[in-house]
Amino acid sequence: MADLDALAQQCGACRRCPLALGRQQVVLSRGNPKARLMLIGEAPGVQEDALGQPFVGRSGQLLDQLLAEAGLDSSRDAYICNGVKCRPPGNRKPTALELAACRPWLQQQIALVQPQVLVLVGATALQAVLGLKGPISQLRGQWQCFEGRACLPIFHPAYLLRNGSSQPGRPRDLTRADLVAVRDHLLTLK
Ligand code: URA
Repeated sequence: MADLDALAQQCGACRRCPLALGRQQVVLSRGNPKARLMLIGEAPGVQEDALGQPFVGRSGQLLDQLLAEAGLDSSRDAYICNGVKCRPPGNRKPTALELAACRPWLQQQIALVQPQVLVLVGATALQAVLGLKGPISQLRGQWQCFEGRACLPIFHPAYLLRNGSSQPGRPRDLTRADLVAVRDHLLTLK
């Protein structure tokens, strides 16, 4: 994966938007670059900025747990990244300009990893990749297509941490079902 190393070097020096000024480091990815599944989140938080890996804080732990409940291992079965590679100050949402500035890095990740399935983790990822601004509660669980790849929006785990009920039909249960659908879809691929 020499090209991903080159990408990491180039992206590590990125100054395309003002987020470069406040970051500790660029947060590019974790997981398996040969995985058929790519998960795309919003942006690094404080822990991700400190450790240099996406989804390593509380949201990431919950994401790993939900993947595991669906029979997916986050290190083996997934390549995990974000729409924006640098931490926005105060963990605010990335702006449309920041998303646009970072978009070429995400496109290169997709081109190099060649995932067959994309999971869009939360409303910002949905906007970043598909340009859809609709409520995530209506679009989650609805398969979409991005450049020929199956693509599923799901709730962001930060939202699930605030809405923790596992009752049937609640966001956490719906997310579990969405990830089972992802696993089942992966099983149908050659
Ligand atoms: N939330 C995200 O969307 N991405 C991370 O890397 C961490 C939290």
